[in-house]
Amino acid sequence: MFGRVKPLDAILATAEKKSLHRSLGAFQLTMLGIGAVIGTGIFVLTAAAAQKAGPGMMWSFVIAGSVCAVAALCYSELASMVPVSGSAYTYSYAVVGELLAWMVGWALILEYAVAASAVSVGWSGYFMGLLKSWTGFQLPAALAAGPTWSLTGVDFSSGIINVPAIFVALGVTWLLMIGTKESATFNAILVAIKVTALTLFIALALPKMSGAHFAPFAPNGWFGPAGTSGLGIVGAASSIFFAYVGFDAVSTAAEETKNPQRNVPIGLIGSLAICTVFYLLVAASAIGAIGAQPAGLGVQPGSPEFARECTVLAANAQHPLVCSNEALAHVLRSINYTWAGDLVGLAANLALPSVILMMLYGQTRIFFVMARDGLLPEKLASVHPKWKTPHVVTLLTGIFVAIAAALLPVGQLADISNSGTLFAFFMVSIAVLVLRVRDPKRVRPFRTPLVWVMAPLSAIGCVALYFNLPLEAKLVLPIWGAIGLAVYFLYSHSRSHVGRGLIEIHEEDIDAPPQPVPPV
Ligand code: ALA
Repeated sequence: MFGRVKPLDAILATAEKKSLHRSLGAFQLTMLGIGAVIGTGIFVLTAAAAQKAGPGMMWSFVIAGSVCAVAALCYSELASMVPVSGSAYTYSYAVVGELLAWMVGWALILEYAVAASAVSVGWSGYFMGLLKSWTGFQLPAALAAGPTWSLTGVDFSSGIINVPAIFVALGVTWLLMIGTKESATFNAILVAIKVTALTLFIALALPKMSGAHFAPFAPNGWFGPAGTSGLGIVGAASSIFFAYVGFDAVSTAAEETKNPQRNVPIGLIGSLAICTVFYLLVAASAIGAIGAQPAGLGVQPGSPEFARECTVLAANAQHPLVCSNEALAHVLRSINYTWAGDLVGLAANLALPSVILMMLYGQTRIFFVMARDGLLPEKLASVHPKWKTPHVVTLLTGIFVAIAAALLPVGQLADISNSGTLFAFFMVSIAVLVLRVRDPKRVRPFRTPLVWVMAPLSAIGCVALYFNLPLEAKLVLPIWGAIGLAVYFLYSHSRSHVGRGLIEIHEEDIDAPPQPVPPV
């Protein structure tokens, strides 16, 4: 199983068949990164981070951004060497063998599909907020949010099913099934909308800053009170890591990039740096304007206890930042800029579906490649005759995404997604080093600088963030992994094409890198 390695040359031959035109420059790559990255993390999870870390969440943004930066450098080396669909799954197949590749692919389901669910729930919060502000209409709480989950059970007091999240998830699934892809121009427009919304937020909220709102700076310390998990500044970093996920879109566009050695790192580090600066300013403005106002110290956001605290506060006409489903719009409305709150809400409503689209797209392409390798039923890899999309796998993924979005709160979804992403990034960091040792002469269009420092730092950072996730999210990865192992040994192991000695070079690869499609 470990010896079942898919020869790199066979993978590369597939890539060569499609040889995409190299047209992207550093600027487009940076736009691509920002387009995939800015989403629910900053627009919604700022509230959860404030609950976990208080004003200290500013450090959380720096920590999460730094781990992503080193992981991004490792990712780029493999992406530039193995520029085919399947991302970390494909790299692992070539480097550390089938079993670990399967586990990475299995973990990527958490990254992409669950992230799509999280962003759907984030969209739902903003949609309901805007609807209420514009028309006064409110869905009953039972239909506007899912229940909360903990190790002790499910609590339906905050909601039963998130209907708007189901709609947006299925709507985006439909767009993908009929073959929708964002053009570079459309992506640029959405980036402009997001950046304008964040700039407007900073411009209005920053002048309202009060030093008093920053004290106490770290109510839950670095690691949260004893006996809790996933709290404090580092716990918030593990959650807010979600706000940076998506930059891998830049690495996967490596083969479409002019001079990738120069432009890929500029695109990756550039988009991460720009997002970090925005995130820090947004966090400082939000806290400075209205304070973090934790709803009980040591209380995990998204938990039944947290939902109860927020219900009590709301009954007393208190609406702290931490309880809001639309954090940034809420801050603006709280400082009497209702119109600006609505505009930021509108921007989130317009832009978040494109983040869902990118995540779902990534997921379907990974399933597609795994099915093509024989590890999943080949029916999943069937391509629709007219739409030219893997419609079966897209529909199944969309249904899974919609169900998860309907039944779980955004913070828990983001944490679960992070656990899978951190595992995949960890494996990528190791794979880079393994390949440097095993195949040092192979051409690397992009080489990670100081790889023996960066890759270990990335691996350690991923492990550290993983262990600071809330217990429930941490447990999901091994349980999900065990299910994955069972599926592998009961189904995939005997059907694997590599295991059966079939090494195919595909004439066509449906995978054009996620976005953008360069204008013709
Ligand atoms: N980084 C993306 C977001 O925050 C996934 O929505």
